Amino acid sequence: MSATASPTPSFPLNDAEAQTVQSALSGLNDSQLLWVSGYAAGLAARSTAPAAAAPVAGSTYTILYGSQTGNGEAIAKALAAEATRQGFEVRLVSMADYKPASLKRESVVSFIVSTHGEGDPPDDAELLHEFLLSSKAPQLSDLKFNVLALGDSSYVNFCQTGRDIDTRLAELGAERLGPIVECDVDYQSDADAWSADTLALLPKPSQQTQDVSYLRAVPDAPVFDRKSPFLAEVLVNQKITGRDSTRDIHHVELSLAGSGIRYEPGDALAVLPVNPPQLVNEFLDALKLDGSTTISIGDEDVELRKSLDHRLEITSLSLVFLKAWAEIANSDEIRALLEDSARVELGQFVDQHQVIDVVLQYPASVDAQTFADSLRKLEARSYSISSGFEANPDEVHLTVAAVRYEAFGREHVGAASSYLVDRVTEGDQVAVYLVPNSRFRLPQDPAARTIMIGPGTGVAPFRAFVEERAESGASGENWLFFGARNFSSDFLYQLEWHRHLKQGNLQRMDVAFSRDQASKIYVQDRIRDKGSEVSRWIDEGAHVYVCGDAKRMAADVHDALRDVLVKHGGLDEEQAEARLKELRRSGRYQKDVY
Ligand SMILES: Cc1cc2nc3c(=O)[nH]c(=O)nc-3n(C[C@H](O)[C@H](O)[C@H](O)COP(=O)(O)OP(=O)(O)OC[C@H]3O[C@@H](n4cnc5c(N)ncnc54)[C@H](O)[C@@H]3O)c2cc1C
Ligand SMILES: Cc1cc2nc3c(=O)[nH]c(=O)nc-3n(C[C@H](O)[C@H](O)[C@H](O)COP(=O)(O)O)c2cc1C
Repeated sequence: MSATASPTPSFPLNDAEAQTVQSALSGLNDSQLLWVSGYAAGLAARSTAPAAAAPVAGSTYTILYGSQTGNGEAIAKALAAEATRQGFEVRLVSMADYKPASLKRESVVSFIVSTHGEGDPPDDAELLHEFLLSSKAPQLSDLKFNVLALGDSSYVNFCQTGRDIDTRLAELGAERLGPIVECDVDYQSDADAWSADTLALLPKPSQQTQDVSYLRAVPDAPVFDRKSPFLAEVLVNQKITGRDSTRDIHHVELSLAGSGIRYEPGDALAVLPVNPPQLVNEFLDALKLDGSTTISIGDEDVELRKSLDHRLEITSLSLVFLKAWAEIANSDEIRALLEDSARVELGQFVDQHQVIDVVLQYPASVDAQTFADSLRKLEARSYSISSGFEANPDEVHLTVAAVRYEAFGREHVGAASSYLVDRVTEGDQVAVYLVPNSRFRLPQDPAARTIMIGPGTGVAPFRAFVEERAESGASGENWLFFGARNFSSDFLYQLEWHRHLKQGNLQRMDVAFSRDQASKIYVQDRIRDKGSEVSRWIDEGAHVYVCGDAKRMAADVHDALRDVLVKHGGLDEEQAEARLKELRRSGRYQKDVY
């Protein structure tokens, strides 16, 4: 069921409210929607009931979240539900919908915020973050706050946005309810503990508000997550780049039959990988460890080999591992690297090395348990869903590029991409769960135009977008910009795009093959070539989507869009940036970059 609301004159919500409701509901499955409807009915009953249900005067507790891929949003929603259950008057707001100047009027606020890009705030938090760090930010001496920062310690700017907000609020005179809690990718238990601590620290609501009868239990529903993933059978695993291509990209189809999972275009699927067996052997050999040794992970006893197979992160390097290995190998060189205040060298080191490189370059003798303790838990990897649900109800399709490269004299592979591309075959089962992405959605208005910019595997969600719009008969025109290295070997889904063009599901397609001529051509060059029409489409209400590489492409495409608005839209640079910011805020310029 998709959660849509179309405001009409008699509709009780204004546009902004309707959008808030839609974004809060998007991605929920049927049972969750049913639960929310009961919850909302309960809230309504409570607000119209006599004194016993009245909120505590002047004690609104605000929870602000800035979340790109939904982790922080889920934590914020769970905290809000529990705080409401305990009788607090709660306001749960996305940072995107929050007027920063309102902070002056708040008494208690919890900030839940992740970090994206290269230490940047998530889209939702951009304006609030900018405001707080600017000279415009007011003194906030009446505010009590705490911060839950989400991040990934394989990035050197670990939890940067949370840190920025925490430091700045204190500078502005606000009082910490408790210290910032920084969560790594395995965030759930830290987030749960922080939420419980937060509720214990809040000024207590009066007893009379503690009427919780409106809460209904969540009905048993097949909700799959990291702890209990769905085992999806592999239906198709097919290479879709040519024999001469420098990239190995596969189209993978998985069966969702029996799962009850429903997805929307824009969502991703998380895949729990099994590590490369060859790499597991290399670790055991390098460290002279016996794979059959029993170690413990939490309360569980597991064989070392099994834990390296599918429980611990043995490819992607994290600061957590680097810190632990500096002590294990007693390495001043790693210690010095970790102390690099500019973090440039450290950033390069983390990007270029995998765990095995560190173990081989800084040899040490270590016992099995200490080694296991130094590693992070193996995390799922997200892949944009490249199929439309309506057209393929029991299936989900992914477009996976193998991460494979040579460094320090040895072949390296990525854990999940090599698992999907090289090691699973048709009939195998893959552990997955849905990662809804309410920030990357088709326009609500079926007549609205879309401009989709997706080079490489960035094209994946646009296959889903076009399939879905074709299936629903949406009349809005669609324009795809695709780019890759070579036309003959890298044109992903070429025949399908031609079919869509012929059938009128796709009106325009512009491609850039960077290595087919002497000078490199990228999607941003095509956007500039077609600048006058791109600018006109934007003026006439088109929604712009960008998916794929976060390191270079997203910024280059942003610059091209700005240049187009300057050259053809009659704006100066500052106005063009402001226009793009406004489009971002209104949801007409969405990015899903990684
Ligand atoms: C929302 C979202 C959607 C995504 N959609 C897709 C998609 O549709 N298709 C897709 O293919 N991917 C997609 N990704 C990326 C995907 O999640 C994985 O990050 C990717 O497949 C690599 O994971 P891995 O486990 O194979 O590599 P890992 O085991 O995580 O990492 C490999 C390690 O190698 C290093 N490394 C990688 N390449 C190089 C290099 N060339 N030189 C030196 N070091 C290197 C890295 O720093 C890393 O430490 C998406 C990511 C997100 C967040
Ligand atoms: C493309 C991308 C870039 C990221 N960059 C950072 C980073 O610079 N620093 C960091 O600590 N975490 C980084 N992360 C990790 C996220 O902060 C982490 O996955 C977090 O749990 C996401 O929470 P959210 O879903 O609420 O946005 C990045 C994640 C992605 C997908």
